[in-house]
Amino acid sequence: MNLTTVITAGILMMAALMLLDRAGSFRPPAEPLATAKPAPAPTVAARGKALPKALPPDVKHQDTLDTMPAGKGQEETFYLCAACHGTAIVKAQGMTRERWDATFQFMVDRHGMADQDKADRDLIVDYLAEHFPPRRRGRGQDNPFLKN
Ligand code: HEC
Repeated sequence: MNLTTVITAGILMMAALMLLDRAGSFRPPAEPLATAKPAPAPTVAARGKALPKALPPDVKHQDTLDTMPAGKGQEETFYLCAACHGTAIVKAQGMTRERWDATFQFMVDRHGMADQDKADRDLIVDYLAEHFPPRRRGRGQDNPFLKN
């Protein structure tokens, strides 16, 4: 076997290997195509957004449940809203349901309040709208001859 034969054989073997590799036989199988499925939305419980049943221990006010008027949703509203501030700031307001709902959303967006699922949110917003409706603007409100 002379040198030329060895070199020729070497080149042929390399060519054969390259051809084989083109067929992918030496490469690891390609990654399976990513299935573009979005992760399922976390459930309310997984986000830790269940309604609180007590005030956080470091709360900075003395308000108790009975500082909110009794009624359906009282407890839920108290423990959610009084986690950050006293109830006076809530009771000082008188708003339509729509405005209360916007306030709820504002607490979520601006102050980091945990959002709630629809049923709990409705319960609380209904409670707020029922007990703290828009206040009458004093005399003249019922008088058709006086414009407000
Ligand atoms: C995560 C904390 C947090 C929670 C929970 C929270 N709030 Fe607030 N809220 C704030 C902060 C902060 C302010 C700013 C006023 C302040 O300094 O206390 C505020 C202010 C307010 C104000 C006064 C807004 C104004 O313009 O004067 C109202 C009304 C109010 N909150 C209602 C609520 C209601 C109703 C809930 C329950 C559904 C609630 N908040 C829950 C943090 C919170």
